[in-house]
Amino acid sequence: MKLELQGITKRFGPLVANDSIDLVIEPAEIHALLGENGAGKSTLMNVLFGLYTADEGKILLDGEERTFRGPRDALAAGIGMVHQHFMLVPVFTVAESVMLGHEDVRGGGLLDLETARRRVKELSDRFGFGLDPDAVVEDLPVGVQQRVEIVKALAREAKVLILDEPTAVLTPQETDDLIEIMRQLKDAGTSIVFITHKLREVKAVADSITVIRRGAVVGTAEPSASENELAELMVGRAVSLGLDKAVAEPGEETFVVEGLTVRDATDQTVVDDVSFAVARGEILAVAGVQGNGQTELTEAILGVLPSAAGSVTLEGRELRGCAPTRCSPRAWGSSPRTARSTASSSTSRWRRTWCSTCTTRSPSPKASGST
Ligand SMILES: Nc1ncnc2c1ncn2[C@@H]1O[C@H](COP(=O)(O)OP(=O)(O)OP(=O)(O)O)[C@@H](O)[C@H]1O
Ligand SMILES: [Mg+2]
Repeated sequence: MKLELQGITKRFGPLVANDSIDLVIEPAEIHALLGENGAGKSTLMNVLFGLYTADEGKILLDGEERTFRGPRDALAAGIGMVHQHFMLVPVFTVAESVMLGHEDVRGGGLLDLETARRRVKELSDRFGFGLDPDAVVEDLPVGVQQRVEIVKALAREAKVLILDEPTAVLTPQETDDLIEIMRQLKDAGTSIVFITHKLREVKAVADSITVIRRGAVVGTAEPSASENELAELMVGRAVSLGLDKAVAEPGEETFVVEGLTVRDATDQTVVDDVSFAVARGEILAVAGVQGNGQTELTEAILGVLPSAAGSVTLEGRELRGCAPTRCSPRAWGSSPRTARSTASSSTSRWRRTWCSTCTTRSPSPKASGST
């Protein structure tokens, strides 16, 4: 199926998230949509999937103009989407998840779970997904949950599959597996819109590339383009992908996290005895695949989440247990990972959560204990 977006404009108040975007997805191609955070990629795909109504522009499928009043219309037209943030119900089985929103019923109005199980098995075998229809979603690793989302779209016979930043939550091995799955889907005739800002993946799998910046298409590129060329197109200026920095000369340690432990609502340990120190003038990176406790670590440091043990000190002052609202705007700030929680109330992508001196307790040797 050939898909064309013509002049799609979507505004959120004064913010133009998509500015007259033209995009053509050919049948059975993998089309990478590349752009920085906030470029407007998800918005465009949400318009295509019927979640948002465009202020201007047209969607054409095989040359015919279509209007989607919601995802149901988009799905019926053969468009499936795996969202940036998964939409699965944790306590459902794989088969129930695939059936949700598209429930077959047998005589007497009973849900036809058996047909859903068979369908999952069939699609899973065909593409080598290795899915157990009876497994419960919350027990599955994130890469497998993603396959459930893909099967859900395929079960509705999606001819165009939108994958919104699918690799953000995957380990390198899971990413390679997904790339293999994408190739198989393409061979089976499915077109894929692959959203990412990871240049290596784009070059590995894309047939064509469209780059958007600040809501507008700024160019197209061939997969043979260098990572530098793609990065420049994406950010709009020359970039150096190499390391170009002097050796740091950090000062004294000023911000110290020791033995920080956080448990979630089910008493699972999500941050396990984490310690680090940041010196004055130093940048410390915390690396890891999304979903491995980074958010909880940040929130516990900020005092948004309670921590079960450990200490957080800034210039010797204990900050643990400090509610951000009680703190004065002096010592530290944080910028959220995405604008998700702030986007609707503000056009700004950044919000500062200031926190510092709730109390000026002096550091205690017992601060890292299980208080
Ligand atoms: N529902 C909303 N209300 C207000 N502003 C929004 C909304 N959704 C997105 N935006 C804004 O529109 C712009 C484009 O956002 P979008 O989520 O489409 O970007 P993106 O390219 O998908 O970024 P990311 O890589 O972070 O996912 C951003 O400035 C964002 O803050
Ligand atoms: Mg997005």
